[in-house]
Amino acid sequence: MNILITGGAGFIGSHLTDVLIQEGHCVTVVDNLSTGSSHNLNPQAVFYNIDIRDRENMDRVFASGQFQIVFHEAAQTMVPYSIEHPMEDADLNIMGLLHVLELCCQYNVKKIIFSSSAAVYGDNPHVPIREGEPLRPESFYGLTKVTAERYIQLYHDIFGLSYAILRYSNVYGERQGSHGEGGVVYIFSKALAKGHELAVFGDGNQSRDFIYVKDVALANVAAMKAAAPGIYNISTKIETTVNALKEILCYFSQSGVSVSYEAARPGDIYRSALDNSKAEEVLHWRPATKLLPGLMSTYTYFAGEELH
Ligand SMILES: NC(=O)c1ccc[n+]([C@@H]2O[C@H](COP(=O)([O-])OP(=O)(O)OC[C@H]3O[C@@H](n4cnc5c(N)ncnc54)[C@H](O)[C@@H]3O)[C@@H](O)[C@H]2O)c1
Repeated sequence: MNILITGGAGFIGSHLTDVLIQEGHCVTVVDNLSTGSSHNLNPQAVFYNIDIRDRENMDRVFASGQFQIVFHEAAQTMVPYSIEHPMEDADLNIMGLLHVLELCCQYNVKKIIFSSSAAVYGDNPHVPIREGEPLRPESFYGLTKVTAERYIQLYHDIFGLSYAILRYSNVYGERQGSHGEGGVVYIFSKALAKGHELAVFGDGNQSRDFIYVKDVALANVAAMKAAAPGIYNISTKIETTVNALKEILCYFSQSGVSVSYEAARPGDIYRSALDNSKAEEVLHWRPATKLLPGLMSTYTYFAGEELH
């Protein structure tokens, strides 16, 4: 199939590109390389260095690509940045999406697969959170994801564009940057590889649901193949504390670096895990990578980067 991935030079988008190319699809990537990197790009993908809001050039990409499927990964992904720059955040995460949706309809794209986030739920004590829980985002980033989901559903109802909405928990793995939601794995790994002190915000007993990036890529492929539109948590359903993460990575690095505990960051959720039963039942997807091998592979990758 002819497939477009926005943000395909980024962390998750580049792994997705690799899987789709391996499956024999013809993949086009649009990315302005603002947080992504050309090093992440699969050489077999057609690449356009374009901002998704550049309508004229995006129109050309859609006209020549004849896409059946669009994966929309490009976004402003930083929660604190969204608080400081709400207009810029909304311009990219809402207006940027609308450009893509309009072009999908204009060029008869069959389905859009959208990267949403656990941030749509806010701080909800019903852990692991199911898809039907109320959406109460506590950041503008989370609000843009909720709004984007609603736009996508209405584009389906009004114009017939099919969709899958994937709410990721904290994604980690090779090629991750420091900025996104699962950034703690990157930050700890890099610090340990350099022998630097680790800074933990709060008491370290806050939990996250860490999911390996290659499992997220496979979830996207499963969602592409699903018949009906739907919203799915893409997660492990398992809570891991920041302290446990720190212990595991310290063990891998065999380094005795010191750890400082600093004040909790305002707005940080204490417990977070998403129920992934719906994705298991409907998409027949489940995360294949356990935390230890996933972290080992990720740590080895980042430590290797420090050697070069
Ligand atoms: N990483 C996580 O833990 C996580 C969790 C939940 C949701 N998500 C969502 O998954 C998606 C991918 O996130 P990621 O972690 O791979 O982040 P990323 O920053 O690595 O990838 C985003 C990509 O989009 C590109 N981009 C940004 N603005 C653009 C623009 N205006 N035009 C074209 N390209 C643009 C960037 O250059 C980058 O390559 C995002 O929508 C993010 O909100 C990520």
